Amino acid sequence: MRTQVGIIGAGPAGLLLSNLLRVAGVESVVLERRSRAYVQDRIRAGVLERIAVELLERVGVAGRMRREGLLHEGVALAVQDESFRIDFEALIGASVMVYGQTEVTHDLIEASLQHGMALEFEAEDVAINGLDGERPWLTWRKDGAEHRLDCDFVAGCDGFHGVSRGAIPADVLQTFEKVYPFGWLGILADVPPAEHELIYSNHERGFALASMRSPTRSRYYVQCPIDEKLVDWPDDRIWDELALRLGPKVAAAMTRGPSIEKSIAPLRSFVAGPMRHGRLFLAGDAAHIVPPTGAKGLNLAASDVHYLSQALAAFYASGASDGLETYSQTAMARVWKAERFSWWFTTLMHRFPDAPAFDRGLQLAELDYLRRSRAAQTAFAENYVGLPLE
Ligand code: FAD
Ligand code: PHB
Repeated sequence: MRTQVGIIGAGPAGLLLSNLLRVAGVESVVLERRSRAYVQDRIRAGVLERIAVELLERVGVAGRMRREGLLHEGVALAVQDESFRIDFEALIGASVMVYGQTEVTHDLIEASLQHGMALEFEAEDVAINGLDGERPWLTWRKDGAEHRLDCDFVAGCDGFHGVSRGAIPADVLQTFEKVYPFGWLGILADVPPAEHELIYSNHERGFALASMRSPTRSRYYVQCPIDEKLVDWPDDRIWDELALRLGPKVAAAMTRGPSIEKSIAPLRSFVAGPMRHGRLFLAGDAAHIVPPTGAKGLNLAASDVHYLSQALAAFYASGASDGLETYSQTAMARVWKAERFSWWFTTLMHRFPDAPAFDRGLQLAELDYLRRSRAAQTAFAENYVGLPLE
C-alpha cells in the first residue's frame, strides 16, 4: 500500500487529522491498535473549546454535536460551600461545547467510513521505518499477516503509550514532566446533572467536579489518593463524598443513581519536543499530557492537527515546506500555554497532601481575587474557552 500521510492512532488527533487532510485533498491511511468498539467506548474528555468545534464544522462532522451538544456560557467555581460564576459570554463573547469524546470519536469514524477513507483497526505491532530518508514506511501485523504502507510523512497520533515518540532519538527529544500526588475518581451515571453548568469545587476534603454529557447523563469526579482502589469506592461512598465537597446547595440538587462507568485517572503534566523529527510529526497525547482540570487534553490534540494539516496541505498544494519546518515551534507555543493554565488551575483547586497551611491561604486568596476581579476572570475565560490559533 502507498499513501501520502501514514497516521498512527485513531484517537481524536488521528481521526481529526485524516478528515482535515481529506478536506484539503491529501490522502492518508490510519492504523489503530485497538478495535473500533474499544476506541469509541473509552470514556474521557467532555468539553470542547470553540476552536475544536470549528474544526469539526470544517470537516463536516458537526451536525449531531450542534443538535445534541450543550453550549455552556460559563462555569462555576466553588470554595468553602460558596460559589461564583465566570461568565464567558459576558466577558469575552464566547462559550464552550459540552459533547463527549466518545461522541466526537464516533462521529469522526462514521465520517471517515462514509468517505471511504482507509481506517485499519486491530493493527498490531505498528513500526516506523526509514525515518532518516525521504520515503518512510510503516509495518504492522493483522490477522497473522504482515503489512506495509509506504508514505511521504508519518503522523504519530498514538497517545501517551504509543510508539511514535520513542522513534525520535533520545539525544534529540527533550521531555518535561510534573506528576501530581493524587488522581481523579470519575463516575458516569444516567441521572440529570445537578446544575446546568460545570462546577469546579475546592473543598477541604479535596477537589470535586460536577460535569455532564447530556441533560440525562452526569459525570462527576472527586480527587483521591494516587494509590486508591476502585473496590473501596462503592457508588454510595462517591455520592456521599460529592455531596460533602460540592456543598449543601448542590447536594440538594444532585440526583444519585447507579454508575455506568467508574475509573481512576492519575494526573500529570508532560511535554515532549521537538514534535517533528525528519518526516515524523507528533500530535496530541503522543507529545503532551495535561491534568484534566482545564479540560485541555482533547482540545490540544485538535489544535496540533490543525497546524499539521495546514502545513501538509500547503506542501502538497505548492511544495512549500516552511509550515512543516515550523510545525513543532508553532504547536509547542500553544501547548505550553495550555500546560501553564492546566497546572495553575490544578494547583489552585486541589488539596496537596502535606502542603503547609500557607499554601491553603494562597489558594483562598487567589480564589477570592478571581471572584472579585473582572481582569482575573477575563484571563480565566480566555484560557478556558481556548486561546486563539496563531
Ligand atoms: P488518544 O485518545 O490516546 O488516542 C491515541 C490512539 O492511538 C488510541 O486509540 C490508541 O489505541 C492508539 N495507539 C496507541 N499506540 C498505538 C500503536 N502502537 N499502534 C497503533 N495505534 C496505537 N481530557 C480532557 O480534556 N478531559 C478529561 O476528562 C479527560 N479524561 C481522560 C481520562 C483518561 C483515562 C485519559 C487517558 C485521558 C483523559 N483526557 C481527558 C485526555 C484526552 O482524552 C486526551 O487528551 C485525548 O484523547 C488525546 O487524543 P489523542 O488522539 O492524542 O490520543
Ligand atoms: C468531563 O466532563 O469529563 C470533564 C469536564 C471538565 C474537565 C474535565 C473533565 O475539566
